[in-house]
Amino acid sequence: MKGLYLHKADENRACKDENQWLELLAKKGNFEVMTQRVTKGATAWLYPARDSNDLEFYFVHTGAMEIVISEDHVHRIGPGDSFYTQGLSRNVLMRCLEDAMLLSVSTCPAFDEQYYWQHELQALLHRVDQYDHSTQRHSRAVMHYAVLLYKALEEHLQGIQMEDFVVAALFHDVGKCNVPEHILQKRARLTPEEYAVVKLHPQDSATILQPMYGERIARIALMHHERMDGSGYPMGLKGKEIPLEARILMVADSFDAMTSNRGYNQVMSHEAAAAEIVEKDQLYDPMVAGVLQQLVLSGKTKEASQDIME
Ligand SMILES: [Fe+2]
Ligand SMILES: [Fe+2]
Repeated sequence: MKGLYLHKADENRACKDENQWLELLAKKGNFEVMTQRVTKGATAWLYPARDSNDLEFYFVHTGAMEIVISEDHVHRIGPGDSFYTQGLSRNVLMRCLEDAMLLSVSTCPAFDEQYYWQHELQALLHRVDQYDHSTQRHSRAVMHYAVLLYKALEEHLQGIQMEDFVVAALFHDVGKCNVPEHILQKRARLTPEEYAVVKLHPQDSATILQPMYGERIARIALMHHERMDGSGYPMGLKGKEIPLEARILMVADSFDAMTSNRGYNQVMSHEAAAAEIVEKDQLYDPMVAGVLQQLVLSGKTKEASQDIME
């Protein structure tokens, strides 16, 4: 009937990963109504919207969540509770205590801009992960460490939104989807030719991210293997030629590579890895490396690593 739009459970666009299921129920312009299923133990972030007039509303249908303003300021919410954000000044962590189902309404295109597109990127990362088993875990870990560094260095970062930075951090290695399977699967040392193929991935990540997220986000991913002394790739940029956000990502990326088990490396403690990054000041930005060391000493990187699901 004209003017009546029926929603059947299996007919909508849904974004699924192992912790979250998001379904778009209704959409008019930028206005969206969604349901969100979140698995116990999963974490999610509420981000400041690009436009501070935009409103995002959430109603808890089933389950239980925690909204973590700070570690000693936590709101537990359950069935029947609701909240909304408008003009949020910083990102806020949410933890899922029991499998939850939420109804959400947004005046900005959260589903289209974030979830649906991120789902496509997640699918690409998942493909890489099938051959290079640590990729998804690594991506989440780098995002967590990069967010900690971003928050500590926010005053030095000009005009880059946390949510944009998160996209760059989470999908910095998505270009590995173009690396042939036999190279991704290889555990022995790569030949120079194979290594040359792997080294194409930052450019490919940037090419994938650019159309949806723009030049600035793409460039952060593009530069995550650059090094301060110009010894990195793909461009061999030096020092301040590399924007601060990319210097942050470089540190977060190397820190996780050093502290996680990738099957062929020696796993370092957070303290030893941070000390090595500080010491290698020809490779890493000393300011970022110093902040990393403080985060390690305060236990924040350990806390973050507990949020990262294997
Ligand atoms: Fe990479
Ligand atoms: Fe990486």
